[in-house]
Amino acid sequence: MQLHVSSHPLVKHKLTLLRDTATDHRKFRELVRELALLLCYEATQDLQLKPATVNTPMGEANGWEASEIVGLAPIMRAGLGLVDGIQELLPSVQVWHIGLYRDEETLRPVEYYNKLPASPTVQVCLVLDPMLATGGSAIATVDILKRWGAQRIKYVGILAAPEGVEALSAAHPNVPIHIAELDERLNDIGFIVPGLGDAGDRMFGT
Ligand code: PRP
Repeated sequence: MQLHVSSHPLVKHKLTLLRDTATDHRKFRELVRELALLLCYEATQDLQLKPATVNTPMGEANGWEASEIVGLAPIMRAGLGLVDGIQELLPSVQVWHIGLYRDEETLRPVEYYNKLPASPTVQVCLVLDPMLATGGSAIATVDILKRWGAQRIKYVGILAAPEGVEALSAAHPNVPIHIAELDERLNDIGFIVPGLGDAGDRMFGT
């Protein structure tokens, strides 16, 4: 299992505000954007570099540039909230939306949108979804990306239940999981406890 739970104080602070029922939709979206940025910073620590030189006002300097193309695979709807913050850090990312919803009775993911081109165009794929509950949606998305031919895939989310981490790690042991917090459990309708409620509804006011 490759589970990375952030220990950054800003992540802990912002996550606490995010959980709070007093946090309105606008503030919720802002916090998700900021958490995405911080979690992406942690998830990209092993991004490959190649040497590059630039001209400073004082002359030439040796430096580095990212040598891997990063793709984001936000799982709609809630994963969309994580895109903006990451695009600020990595302006040249490709965004490949994946449409999945969770059937409320079976809790199984149902695919409704996928426009991936025939062959992979990125070297590193970040699957984005704030909530890893049963893990079904994340597993289905990684399945889609692996069939596409993606080589390096990471999951970046905010909250996870132990059940979701177990399931995703068992199905895809080579996919690191980066989250802000590992919560206690799933309740009997598949919500993370204590969690933050329904992330999609809180983000989009539905
Ligand atoms: C939520 C959440 C994840 C999924 C997690 O989405 O955003 O995508 O459920 O559950 P799982 O780990 O058990 O698959 P939901 O289906 O509510 O769709 P939405 O984002 O459109 O609200």
